[in-house]
Amino acid sequence: MTAEEPLTIDARKRAAALAALELIQDGMQLGLGTGSTVEHLLGAIAERGLDVAGVPTSEATEAYCRELDLRVLHPSEVESLDLAIDGADELDHALTATKGGGGALLREKVVAAMSERFVVIATTDKLVDRLGHSFPLPIEVVPFAAGPVTRRLRERGYDVQLRTAGEGPAVVTDNGNPLLDARMVGGIEDPAVEELWIAALPGVVECGLFVDLVDHALLADEDGRVLSLEPGVS
Ligand code: A5P
Repeated sequence: MTAEEPLTIDARKRAAALAALELIQDGMQLGLGTGSTVEHLLGAIAERGLDVAGVPTSEATEAYCRELDLRVLHPSEVESLDLAIDGADELDHALTATKGGGGALLREKVVAAMSERFVVIATTDKLVDRLGHSFPLPIEVVPFAAGPVTRRLRERGYDVQLRTAGEGPAVVTDNGNPLLDARMVGGIEDPAVEELWIAALPGVVECGLFVDLVDHALLADEDGRVLSLEPGVS
C-alpha cells in the first residue's frame, strides 16, 4: 500500500472553503473576504446557485463577484451581516488572526466587525504559537505618516518594511494608502495590547491584528480533513 500524496495548498484551501459553504443559507447577507481561499468560496457559492448577497472586502473581490453574477452590497446599505467569511495570514490558538497579506485589512476588519459571525477559512499551516514572527503584521497608514510610524514601530522592536511591488513603487491599498509590514522577532507577546498601541499612533489607519473577532475557524490539513475551531474550545 502506498501512502497518499499530501494535498496541495490550493486543494486544502478549497477544502476549507467548501466546509464554510455549508454554513451559508439562502437569503443571507454575507461579508465576503479577500484572497485565494475566498475565491474558492465565491466560485462554490455561484456553482451552487445560492441566493445570497454580500459586501466585498476589496476591489478584487467585488470584481470577481460581478464576474460570477453574485449580488454586491455596500456597507451603508445593511445594518448588519449574517456571516462574514475570510482567509487569514496567521492564526494563534486563541483564534486571534493576522490579516492584510493581500492589503485588504481595513475593509476586512470593517466587515468582520459588522457581522454576527466571522469565520476564517485557511490551512492548518497558518496556525502559530505567536503572531508576527514568521509572517509580518501589515499596518495601513496615511501616506504622510509612513515615516514617523515606521520610526515608532522600530523603537518598539519591530523590523519594518514599506510594502513595494518588487523593486517598484510602494503598494497602495484600495483606500489609497501605503502598507508597512512589521515583523517582531519571537512574535507578538500580547496581540490585544499591541493592537491598541498601534492604533494609537497618529496616522495609522488600521493594523492587521484581528483580536476577539474570529468566532470560528475552519482549517484544512494535508489530508483534506477540516478542523473546526472555536475560541476557548480545544
Ligand atoms: C487579504 O488582505 C488577507 O487578509 C487575506 O485574507 C489573507 O492574505 C489570506 O489570503 P489567502 O486566502 O490567499 O491565503
